[in-house]
Amino acid sequence: MPGRRIDWFDSIDSTMIEARRDPQPGRIVGAEEQTAGMGRHGRKWISPAGAGLYVSMVLTAKPVPVIMLSLGLATRDAIAGGDLRWPNDVLINGKKCAGVLAQLEGDRIIAGIGINVSQTEFPDDLETPATSMLLEGLQVSREDLLVALVALVDRYTRLGSNEILRQFTNASSYVFGKRVRVEAGLEGVTCGLDPAGFLRVREDNGTVTTILAGGVRPV
Ligand code: BTN
Repeated sequence: MPGRRIDWFDSIDSTMIEARRDPQPGRIVGAEEQTAGMGRHGRKWISPAGAGLYVSMVLTAKPVPVIMLSLGLATRDAIAGGDLRWPNDVLINGKKCAGVLAQLEGDRIIAGIGINVSQTEFPDDLETPATSMLLEGLQVSREDLLVALVALVDRYTRLGSNEILRQFTNASSYVFGKRVRVEAGLEGVTCGLDPAGFLRVREDNGTVTTILAGGVRPV
């Protein structure tokens, strides 16, 4: 990846923390293992040595919901398969194979991407059951995966918002017609994205609510 600054660590608390220390646009921070990997909503991201791809990339800011969707698209393409659960979990056969965390740092976005590459075991108590590329029959070196992922993040984050919304809508079974429960407690059927990239859910009483935060679960 010519021209890219890549800082790679054998072991680190979290690539998110390191990337924030020097948020130079284009910088990539990666690690073999994370001892305090972070997931969305304050959850942990279990990051055993050599078994996953754990990277944070510093991007110049775009509206956060749209960038979240573009990062999900890039991650799904890098894995070469899977469904996108709004806003950006990559699921294979209903199990989570990759996740994205985006944090604002001034006018920068720190985009953290975790891909389960070769894990064969996961804790039983995860909210969404997890899988890895290996368990799903997708074999790839982490190096090739990183090269592909960086190129795809560059490509998708350059697209305009409307194009990202269109591509996400095509790629995700969650955007239309999926019965979901939202973390806030509301339940209904998904009915598209709003122009900012937020998910709309129609409750059984007809009320349409735009989901601004939190995750959705199929019911
Ligand atoms: C999620 O909860 O789905 C988001 C998971 C994001 C995990 C990645 S791994 C690299 C980067 N460093 C972290 O501590 N978290 C992100």
